[in-house]
Amino acid sequence: MSTYLSNNDRFQPINLFEYEKLAKDHLSQTTLDYYSSGAWDEITLQDNRAAFERVKLRPRMLVDVSDVYDGLHLRNLTTSILGQSLQLPLLIAPMAFQCLAHPDGEVATALAAASAGVGMVLSTMATKSIEEVATACEKFPDSLRWFQLYIHKDRGLTRALVEKAYKAGYKALCLTVDAPVLGQRERDRRNEFALPPDLHLANLATISGLDISHEKGESGLFTYFAQQLNPAVTWHDLEWLQSLSPLPLVIKGILRGDDAVRAVEYGAKAIVVSNHGGRQLDGAIASLDALTEIVAAVDGKVEVVLDGGIRRGTDILKALALGAKAVLIGRPILWGLAVAGQVGVSHVISLLQDELSLAMALSGCAKLEDIDPSLVRLPRL
Ligand code: GLV
Repeated sequence: MSTYLSNNDRFQPINLFEYEKLAKDHLSQTTLDYYSSGAWDEITLQDNRAAFERVKLRPRMLVDVSDVYDGLHLRNLTTSILGQSLQLPLLIAPMAFQCLAHPDGEVATALAAASAGVGMVLSTMATKSIEEVATACEKFPDSLRWFQLYIHKDRGLTRALVEKAYKAGYKALCLTVDAPVLGQRERDRRNEFALPPDLHLANLATISGLDISHEKGESGLFTYFAQQLNPAVTWHDLEWLQSLSPLPLVIKGILRGDDAVRAVEYGAKAIVVSNHGGRQLDGAIASLDALTEIVAAVDGKVEVVLDGGIRRGTDILKALALGAKAVLIGRPILWGLAVAGQVGVSHVISLLQDELSLAMALSGCAKLEDIDPSLVRLPRL
């Protein structure tokens, strides 16, 4: 089992929920609210989690699982996504403004991901630049990074972001499609969320001088979206986007089978089933509840990954059983980052790895390929 940090630490979290509790001591209330909140009544936010609790496991007995876990040694959980290898079926979801959690921000997150051999998706709204993150990870030449894209009204700016990501060695463009405008997170509105004066939109500021407001007022991010992002984007724009670079396109934010089929038709190479961590349309279906329909709709033509609500190794197991190739993990990474920077993120990843191995062993799965739909019982809807 993984151990944490040094013996000097007062409290050693043993799971992701304990990280969440501990992170509260390391973050301002405004930052904590920004990271943790969902849209409006936060029904979808809560349902992402509840959906995992509704799905039950059907373990197989008397299988030799010594290859996956013998109580002492972790074994091979290697997989691949878009042809690139991962040590675990895990990527870190794109999340904005990570320097609010720790001064090393996205660089610490990327280093933790690269050293664990999991993927990282860097946000357009990062507080460390595309190049800073890539340079920091140079000693991990095989590390997998995707760049998350928001399409701005200014097409030149969007093009410049794509070109920077390609040049810096990112392996895919992950287009977020569930945010033509920003969802209403009322805690941010109440707090008049703004960035502190020393933090900037590292990618946009260098290209065009754009930044999030540093002044109190309406939520700074909400205003930025309304002013800068293009709410008129449709499927037809994907052709233009793909003409900008050879990077494969991953579409993030799909919740319906018919949209998944369109994404494939318009050239997507992978789909992220996601409702943006419950931060966009409140009342939207939980990610896990959307997974089965989407996996069936794409019928193996592209890889499907899922984010939203994953807090335990058993959650990863359930998502894989329902057809996800890998999962993205969001907020718990920020809690690890807030508590202990890169070391905290590494520990969050290793806790999930331990839990997944143990859950597989207890379910009679000796390797990832043994995880199949018969392992779960869906709730009666
Ligand atoms: C940014 O993308 C956010 O969801 O806050």
